[in-house]
Amino acid sequence: MRAKASDTDLGVIKTDVLVVPYFHGEPLGPSAAAADLALDGLLSRMRDDHEVTGAFPSRTVVATLGRISAPRIVFLGLGRPQELDGYRLRNALQFTVLQTRRFCRSLAVLVDDGLVAALAAQDPRQGKPTAVARAIAEGVALGNYHLGQLKSGEDSGAIEELEVLGLGTGTKVADALTEGASMGEVTNRTRVLQWQPSNRLTPTQLAAEAERVAGESKLELEVLDRAEMEKLGMGALLAVARGSHEPPKLVSLRYRPKTKSKSGKVLALVGKGITFDTGGISLKPNAGMVAMKADMSGAAAVIEAMSLIAQMHAPIEVMAVAAITENMPGGGAIKPGDVVSAMNGKSIEINNTDAEGRLVLADALGFAAARGATHLVDVATLTGAVVVALGHSVTAAMGNNPELLEQLRRAGALAGERIWELPFYPEYDIALTCGIADMHNTSGTPGAGSINAGVFLREFISDLPWVHLDIAGTAYHTEALLKTVVPIGPSGVMTRTLAHLPFQMG
Ligand code: BES
Ligand code: MN
Ligand code: ZN
Repeated sequence: MRAKASDTDLGVIKTDVLVVPYFHGEPLGPSAAAADLALDGLLSRMRDDHEVTGAFPSRTVVATLGRISAPRIVFLGLGRPQELDGYRLRNALQFTVLQTRRFCRSLAVLVDDGLVAALAAQDPRQGKPTAVARAIAEGVALGNYHLGQLKSGEDSGAIEELEVLGLGTGTKVADALTEGASMGEVTNRTRVLQWQPSNRLTPTQLAAEAERVAGESKLELEVLDRAEMEKLGMGALLAVARGSHEPPKLVSLRYRPKTKSKSGKVLALVGKGITFDTGGISLKPNAGMVAMKADMSGAAAVIEAMSLIAQMHAPIEVMAVAAITENMPGGGAIKPGDVVSAMNGKSIEINNTDAEGRLVLADALGFAAARGATHLVDVATLTGAVVVALGHSVTAAMGNNPELLEQLRRAGALAGERIWELPFYPEYDIALTCGIADMHNTSGTPGAGSINAGVFLREFISDLPWVHLDIAGTAYHTEALLKTVVPIGPSGVMTRTLAHLPFQMG
């Protein structure tokens, strides 16, 4: 998608659809008022008649019948200004594109200072013309993602040209638009991987995608097979892989800045890459199991983020480590009660084979530390409990380092992705207590399932600064009710946040 900034008069813009955002419960801002005037007060009339209210994310498509050169306008309700953030803005634009892309190739968005001010009131980092430009380009590019890739003969259409009016035409805004388009498109790659069925995206094929990214972005690449994992003592990852015929992979990509960073920081992005999670011998119930094809969402995000990191020339060294395998109940599978040793030598009693994510991450975190990481961030669809705690629109974070967490939050703000911290009180440590081995992989005590998983991971971080991101709630959306406010399907969550992170640390 090409994206440009312009100051063309709204009456003469050459575009298939002009998007005019406006707020609920507020007088029309200058750009919406201008569009209203050009259509003889149509929007005001519809508002007076309570036909439209500006509720989030309402889209009212009207034909312009020659009054302006764009053949149609979408009046886009953004809700109340004090409730708008970068996440909601991107979602509103995604919905707009989903609704129009079948018959529109080009799209223009008409904004003004009111939109910038609304975002700035929420968070100064989101409320700059460049941040708003990036958000708009990302939202539109994200709207081009389509679910039906495997249907034959399906052409769902896509927006190829974006024009943004009202943010100025300076190079900074232009660059932000280009960057946003690219960030949205790379996020869509994560989404394609996430929704790929597990017979089409085996561990070998996910590793091949990492190889493609490494080749395209000139990154160093390391792919470990089963024998090499055995040599390194990765008993936890290998334990999960035993139930499957598909060979496991541990993939690592490494980016080095042209000039060595003074800080000497080496950030490792560690992703859970379970290409299908049946639960293993602790088999999951049938209902909803199909979504477990997306249990590699963390790995997909760290792999794709690397291409953005290379493209934007991050200032510090970054590696992505993806622990990739299926979790299957085959004849060789681990059984409840089995004891294994992770790469760092700690022994684990596996009392539930469905808590496999933390096992594969234990060795991936150990590997990252052994390869010289100074900072760790792991990303995983780790617990159903996080959905109970936070729902689907915010990612849970846990960790041992407030500075790294704050840097992630800032990165998240730039990306339009929400992050909320869960606590680690010492009382939670009881989750690990085990009479048989150093720890077990699930706590027998009810409650705080997401925190218990974090407490487990903390045993494998070699005392480095670390943040764990549980994306089980945000990686994809299937609930019918939810799809009215958040687009259905995979989200590519954390791809962009992770790409911004090294710049916050540099
Ligand atoms: N992949 C699942 C977590 C998950 C659940 C992701 C729902 C997305 C949506 C993970 O491997 C898992 O099975 N976790 C268990 C942990 C339990 C056995 C302690 C869970 O959440 O039930
Ligand atoms: Mn599981
Ligand atoms: Zn899982």
